[in-house]
Amino acid sequence: MGKLDGKVAVITGATSGMALASAKLFVEEGAYVFITGRRQESLDDAVKAIGRNVTGVQADSAKLADLDRLYETVKREKGHVDVVFSSAGHGGRAPLGEITEEQFDNLFSLNTRGTLFTVQKALPLMRDGGSIIMNGSIAHLKGMQGLSVYAGSKAALRSFARSWAVELAERRIRVNVLSPGPIATNALTNLPAEAKEYFLSGIPRKELGHPEEIATTALFLASNDSSFVNGSEICVDGGMAQI
Ligand SMILES: NC(=O)c1ccc[n+]([C@@H]2O[C@H](COP(=O)([O-])OP(=O)(O)OC[C@H]3O[C@@H](n4cnc5c(N)ncnc54)[C@H](OP(=O)(O)O)[C@@H]3O)[C@@H](O)[C@H]2O)c1
Repeated sequence: MGKLDGKVAVITGATSGMALASAKLFVEEGAYVFITGRRQESLDDAVKAIGRNVTGVQADSAKLADLDRLYETVKREKGHVDVVFSSAGHGGRAPLGEITEEQFDNLFSLNTRGTLFTVQKALPLMRDGGSIIMNGSIAHLKGMQGLSVYAGSKAALRSFARSWAVELAERRIRVNVLSPGPIATNALTNLPAEAKEYFLSGIPRKELGHPEEIATTALFLASNDSSFVNGSEICVDGGMAQI
């Protein structure tokens, strides 16, 4: 018996990295998943890699009309959703003193605004007892050079989780943030050597995290194993923001 048997999950930004690893694991555990990404070709590859019980919907989480189309597809194909893992997000350096309006708008429009509407637009389809997971970042718990705007855009998610856990209490919908440390995904592929050194120096095991190590935590938060975890933040960071 799988931990997500009979459940329907939406995972955004899931054509690579930790969200793709989560989609694979959710399906192995019995869920049907709807995954998104902006590029159709990557979406097709991801659907193929997952292999079964998956629908790919081309959608940009920063565009509200795309989110409407995503949930129209979920409604038409399954009629409801049990788990939302809002993972689409991006980083980017913007040192204080040089921050542009465009950098601010880019980061907040996807990481914060996109996450908010991904959750809000799911609510009419969400079954009572569901689970909402937002992909945060430990960046908001540390002071890191050039990352204040990114960190701020993710800090908001921590606050959303507290408020929404209260607002959704009657429906027994839990809301949590999963905050990764540095994970070996495409986002970190072209990391400058100094940045990689900085990350590794803060991790006791001296090795970046792997997408599968995020997927197992996402599964925990999606399933009944975390039935008493709500309004919380779970850091999966190898200790980086804890020590
Ligand atoms: N990697 C890390 O070390 C790290 C650490 C802390 C937090 N995070 C957070 O974890 C999440 C996932 O990161 P990752 O490193 O696993 O990502 P990744 O491997 O770089 O993949 C990003 C995924 O999101 C999709 N995507 C990007 N922009 C999108 C948009 N506007 N709408 C929909 N999909 C979009 C990409 O496909 P398309 O390009 O085709 O859209 C791709 O599938 C992000 O929110 C990130 O901020 C990452």
